[in-house]
Amino acid sequence: MPDKLTVYNPATGEVIKSIPQQSAKEVEEAIERSHQAFKTWSKTSASERASLLKKWYELIVEHKDELGKLITAENGKPYQEAVGEVLYGAGYIEWFAEEAKRVYGRTVPAPTTGKRIVVTRQAVGPVAAITPWNFPNAMITRKAAPALAAGCTFIIKPAPDTPLSALELARLAYEAGIPKDVLQVVNGDGEEIGNVFTSSPKIRKITFTGSTPVGKILMKNSAETVKHVSMELGGHAPLIVDEDANLDLAVEQAMVSKYRNAGQTCVCANRLIVHESVKDEFAKKLSEQAAKLKVGNGLEEGVNVGPIINKKGFEKIVSQIDDAVEKGAKVLVGGSYDRNDDKGCYFVHPTVLGDVDTSMNIMHEETFGPVAPIISYTDIDEAIELANDTPFGLAAYFFTENYRRGIYISENLDYGIIGWNDGGPSAVQAPFGGMKESGVGREGGSEGIEPYLETKYMSIGL
Ligand code: SIN
Repeated sequence: MPDKLTVYNPATGEVIKSIPQQSAKEVEEAIERSHQAFKTWSKTSASERASLLKKWYELIVEHKDELGKLITAENGKPYQEAVGEVLYGAGYIEWFAEEAKRVYGRTVPAPTTGKRIVVTRQAVGPVAAITPWNFPNAMITRKAAPALAAGCTFIIKPAPDTPLSALELARLAYEAGIPKDVLQVVNGDGEEIGNVFTSSPKIRKITFTGSTPVGKILMKNSAETVKHVSMELGGHAPLIVDEDANLDLAVEQAMVSKYRNAGQTCVCANRLIVHESVKDEFAKKLSEQAAKLKVGNGLEEGVNVGPIINKKGFEKIVSQIDDAVEKGAKVLVGGSYDRNDDKGCYFVHPTVLGDVDTSMNIMHEETFGPVAPIISYTDIDEAIELANDTPFGLAAYFFTENYRRGIYISENLDYGIIGWNDGGPSAVQAPFGGMKESGVGREGGSEGIEPYLETKYMSIGL
């Protein structure tokens, strides 16, 4: 493994920076420091941890423009969207600074008068996090903030495409007064570091956001030392537009859901399931809006859709479009791309596909790109069955103005996150996470600190 990791701008191919990579031995040393630091950090008061987190939050907000530029440089998303991510990410820190003070225990009536039962919560121990490139900032804070709030120490292994945001977040954490061994960043070979994390008995919890296949490996490998795991894995979100939907709202929100981050989010609408009676109008309106999006370098004014993170991601998107077209789908807008293999820059123009059917790969695989395939239905149970016909269960969306139908649809969708007339349901205050092969555990909301806590009960004999 080279001792340096070079980070490139996916929009220009330029080198942003080369940073040191850590060997397996250095990662083991980081784990030992985390283990030692846990002994003191876990004993600090909740208010002390809350004020350090609050300070970290304030510094991030103060530096939101630089952090946003850094996200755009290493990930490619448009600058305004990147600043939005910084504020979204900082919101998790503010939220968990407050939640730190609300880790309550309880007393329980004992079986006899000669006993008392007291239930307390304590930090699980040192935590290792493996975080993705699609939200280089917010997917770190969403994990680090509850961990630190609970009293855990924390080691981050960011994605190799976007490690700079992680390093910058850590720098601001140190400036806020969070001790260096309490929050550490390691970079290097993903598989090697993953194995060091999972095999170490000192790491008591693994938290991961990324693909389902990698999540499964981490879960299997964590079994050896019976670690706690939180997994935020792949998605294949359906977006149902029912016959009585407000179509303009459905189009507006489908745009938000589908084209944010060039379609590279786990919660992006991946399958648009539209009632036959409104399909043509919906497809026309969506195509008109998609055609207006400007593709390019996210630092340029007016750009709405940035590059695809890398060649592998780009080739998957193109192969799904080609497969769909070969099997009879119609390209209503987009379907084109700009590729520069020499520079490693790849852009896909916002695409809407009509006449899609279930034989097409795009109906079964996560796309992670700006492609909206439209399939139609006549009966709502058919739409729900189609929506649930996947191993994934992260986010699902539906549009209807009819509340009876809305309740029916929401109760029958097997998904952890439901957007009813809402294409952007993610919020710091709400529990984010999936069912089935989309993951284990929830991040955010009052649930978000739970995975970092152990329950202990004490039976006191009088
Ligand atoms: C993700 O794609 O995993 C995160 C998206 C979000 O928090 O909205």
